[in-house]
Amino acid sequence: MTNLYASRITGTGSAFPKRRLTNLEIAQNIETSDEWIRERTGIVERRISEPGNPDELNSSLGLAAAKRALEMAGKRPEDIDQILYATASPDTIIPSTACWLQQKLGAKNAWALDMNAACSGFLYALTVADQFIKTGSSKTILVIGSEVLSTFVNWKDRGSCILFGDGAGAVIVERTTADSPSRIISSHLHSDGSFWELLHVPAGGSAMEVTAARHAEGLDKVHMKGKEIFKVAVKTLSDYAALALEVNHLKLSDLDWFIPHQANLRIIEAVAKRLDLPMEKVLLNIERFGNTSSATVPSMLDEAVRDGRIKSGQTVLMDVFGAGLTYGSVLVRW
Ligand code: UT7
Repeated sequence: MTNLYASRITGTGSAFPKRRLTNLEIAQNIETSDEWIRERTGIVERRISEPGNPDELNSSLGLAAAKRALEMAGKRPEDIDQILYATASPDTIIPSTACWLQQKLGAKNAWALDMNAACSGFLYALTVADQFIKTGSSKTILVIGSEVLSTFVNWKDRGSCILFGDGAGAVIVERTTADSPSRIISSHLHSDGSFWELLHVPAGGSAMEVTAARHAEGLDKVHMKGKEIFKVAVKTLSDYAALALEVNHLKLSDLDWFIPHQANLRIIEAVAKRLDLPMEKVLLNIERFGNTSSATVPSMLDEAVRDGRIKSGQTVLMDVFGAGLTYGSVLVRW
């Protein structure tokens, strides 16, 4: 079936909490150093939401990012007919963070749901949005990747806590014609649940209730096998970047920008090397924000659109991996 419609990103936005947490501050509490964290991850500081601050809840960061994206797109909250909220750190289990956001934004004509594909969530949600637009059932969709993972991080575990930060990114996706030059070109997603153990939070779902003893053991916090994820991440990011190019008969030189999930600078450098992609084409915000999970790609996208690096007509490849494991890429012509 030939589609009549395609999707186009018409607005972007991002938001971060105020508080900067530097490597030096982390090193005051656990056995690590600024030098180690910089060298092994490329991270210098990250933003952390202030506990209890209503302006820095997951949905509040999502709200601020959404408002900026709407403004850029020239749309009103009432114009949104669907909200897809990618997050692994919801405000509450029930209701969804998408519904919290909906009422804060006043998007009264939308239906709203959360999607959890961990760090890959934004591209999963963007792909779902693309499908609803292509079938003609939606016209204007708000897609958000937002996290306050600081509440799920074990700040005593030096093998994981150094990586994560809080933040949000949002885009407005609108219907355009299938032959529009500016559109989402293709999407390539996959997941492999057999790797669940590499990154998980054991307690807090219906499988394991949080008790005082389990909390004391840190079972309600992120458990991560960093070295193992590193290897899978390099492979899947490289494979799914190559796949997007191959399917579209593009060469690396046809790419203007590459936006990978920002988990560790060394992962990104290894992927660029494997692909033979010059680092000048890679957009990075990891140094300032760390790994904001589902927010890394949309917040980086917003920064590069606003500062004029991403220009109309350019080809942008977004590429992610995350807990699940989940992974995939989305190719866009701006
Ligand atoms: O979206 C999130 C998905 N998660 C990821 O993408 C994580 C991917 N993995 C990573 O980013 C890296 O594996 C880490 C940054 C987490 C760890 O770096 P690494 O280079 O893989 O270190 P390692 O685990 O191989 O540990 C090397 C050494 C060990 O000491 P010994 O056994 O050699 O004495 C660790 O105990 O470094 C030690 N170490 C640290 N030292 C200082 C581990 N973490 C730290 C630390 N500070 N924060």
